[in-house]
Amino acid sequence: MRDQMTSQNFISQKREGRTKIRKSPSFPLYQRATKGGFGSVLTALLILSGPAVAFAASGDNAFTPTNIFVPLSTPAHAIYQISLLVLLICAAIFVIVGGLLAYSIFRFRRRPEHENLEPPQVYGSNQIELAWTVIPILIVFVLILATTRTIYDVQSALPPPDSVNATIVGHQWWWEIRYPDLGIVTANELHVPVTESGKRRPTFIRLESADVAHSFWVPQLAGKIDLIPNRRNLVWIEPTEPGTYVGNCAEYCGLQHARMLLRVIAHTPDDFQKWVAAQKQPPVDNPQLRAGRDAFFSTSCVNCHAIKGTKAKGQFGPDLTHLMSRETLGAGVIANTVENLQAWVRDPQHAKPGALMPNMQLTDGELNQMVAYLSSLK
Ligand code: CUA
Repeated sequence: MRDQMTSQNFISQKREGRTKIRKSPSFPLYQRATKGGFGSVLTALLILSGPAVAFAASGDNAFTPTNIFVPLSTPAHAIYQISLLVLLICAAIFVIVGGLLAYSIFRFRRRPEHENLEPPQVYGSNQIELAWTVIPILIVFVLILATTRTIYDVQSALPPPDSVNATIVGHQWWWEIRYPDLGIVTANELHVPVTESGKRRPTFIRLESADVAHSFWVPQLAGKIDLIPNRRNLVWIEPTEPGTYVGNCAEYCGLQHARMLLRVIAHTPDDFQKWVAAQKQPPVDNPQLRAGRDAFFSTSCVNCHAIKGTKAKGQFGPDLTHLMSRETLGAGVIANTVENLQAWVRDPQHAKPGALMPNMQLTDGELNQMVAYLSSLK
């Protein structure tokens, strides 16, 4: 209770400045809450549920990019509904149990006139014992049935005719993204069409791992599903609004687990077709950048990276065919600009310590030429 209060005050202090602390709306609530009894439990609940309700009520995507209470995709909606039901049932249990507890503490508190008196000794009651066995079983049963139905509805969904197929392979610490039907390979940014005006275009994603267990989680689009070595898991998303949805690896997978970020970019169907057409283009081959190209192909870069239609066929690292069409480098660690690309190639360990891409010890001349070539891969 006190911790909650402290953090509430801290927030309002940050928002309104030091002088206004006492005007914080939660402060009078806290004073009332300290008077005890049933009211205190209700007040505590109100304070606790305040932020959750505020989050849920806020539909502004820009401020809630990873908020499960603002679902924008069919499976995420189903999960949101079930989570509301579970929260509601648990809140009711909390109010009842907490209320009875608070009432008992207050009503049967120690009083001076009871000094040296033994309280009444009450032994088993079949009715009460039956009630507190049967009611929880019924509650658990309702939760199991409702959850099972949601899981079944999400997992057994069949792809409609216009759905997109993708495969995501988890690597330490980036996402390989393949579109088997479209012949596209990219990384860290999953581009998908949106479902608009009843025309369904979900994306069905096969999840695999090249090394350890990872977990796909884009909270506004779907539940959390692991990527497990030697196993294929399935997830599907169906965003209903164009935009960028952020997610991250949700299973500890090594040093840079926290910086294994994923973006899902949802396009209108026309824009998605444009993106597909651009990705299908062969890589740019500008004769003026030959020196950089030769530098790239003469180092061991080609052992890990692929550029479509060239001898670079490595699969340990991201495909570079359309490198500059992506928004970030290092799986969301830095923005993808020419300067950042240069810094990244010079020493990947600087931006992402532990990244499996080594410092190639290039001379400044080689580095400049190579980055000039790489940054032409739009
Ligand atoms: Cu990949 Cu955590």
